[in-house]
Amino acid sequence: MAGILERFRMDGRVAVVTGSGRGIGAATALALADAGADVVVSARTASQIEATAEGVRERGGRALVVPCDVLDAEQRSALLARTEAEFGRLDVLVNNAGGWGPTPALDTSEDDLDACFRFNVTTAFALSRSAALTLARDGGGAIVNISSTAGVFAQPGFFAYGTAKAALAFLTKNLAQDFAPKVRVNAIAVGSVLTDALAGFMTPALEAMMLDRTPMARLGEPEDIAASALYLASPAASYVTGEVLGVHGGLTSSQVTLPRAAL
Ligand SMILES: NC(=O)c1ccc[n+]([C@@H]2O[C@H](COP(=O)([O-])OP(=O)(O)OC[C@H]3O[C@@H](n4cnc5c(N)ncnc54)[C@H](OP(=O)(O)O)[C@@H]3O)[C@@H](O)[C@H]2O)c1
Repeated sequence: MAGILERFRMDGRVAVVTGSGRGIGAATALALADAGADVVVSARTASQIEATAEGVRERGGRALVVPCDVLDAEQRSALLARTEAEFGRLDVLVNNAGGWGPTPALDTSEDDLDACFRFNVTTAFALSRSAALTLARDGGGAIVNISSTAGVFAQPGFFAYGTAKAALAFLTKNLAQDFAPKVRVNAIAVGSVLTDALAGFMTPALEAMMLDRTPMARLGEPEDIAASALYLASPAASYVTGEVLGVHGGLTSSQVTLPRAAL
């Protein structure tokens, strides 16, 4: 019997990672390449996806660079079509592109909420649905959705983002039921990782509050999430589907407290 680490290998497999120009997506693309996968690197900024692709090649993988705004249906179709044309297969889809800043509920319009859902939920569904047949065809595929602890712990100020990420987590569970046994669908409830997205609203006071409330007493690194995404994408997790894996340093409640609505 092969050693257990063989189950984490991704040789001969092809992965699409959305939002892989930087942050968690870039680290995940590189982790998959470390494990032997070929990776389709995708986001809007060409220079950043080129840089990630170079990292994939340095690790011995083949990389295909496809600029894609996940909000654009034609660009999503082109992403999957170019993957098929280049590699002739698809084994892993990582729906990582997403995000939304904290906004008070009273300042959130219906359009804001729709836009947040579209970015974090609808695009992941659309790509998953479009890729499902190909993922199933090629011997058992995996979808990994990047959700958030904001979708696990209710807190003031995260109404739109938290609701959308909770929906992404439940979409994960439902799609896992629809797509079993050929395609596994799992998600990661990410804690705070100091990427550009978080740096945008981080302050020393906020960071001190976060560290104080995090049992593991540090913020996450993109590689913490990438390692978990690799596990869920790999044959090591072949009996795991419909799960939302918490990767957040042991949180049991929200990491920050923003002001409540002034009612
Ligand atoms: N960082 C955290 O603390 C944290 C916590 C919980 C969950 N998450 C989740 O983790 C995921 C990645 O976040 P991150 O922190 O790594 O963010 P990031 O460092 O800002 O990176 C986001 C990536 O997504 C791409 N992207 C943004 N808008 C896009 C679009 N419309 N279409 C395609 N790609 C797009 C960006 O490139 P372009 O701008 O060039 O397109 C970039 O490559 C998100 O789903 C986020 O909600 C993050």
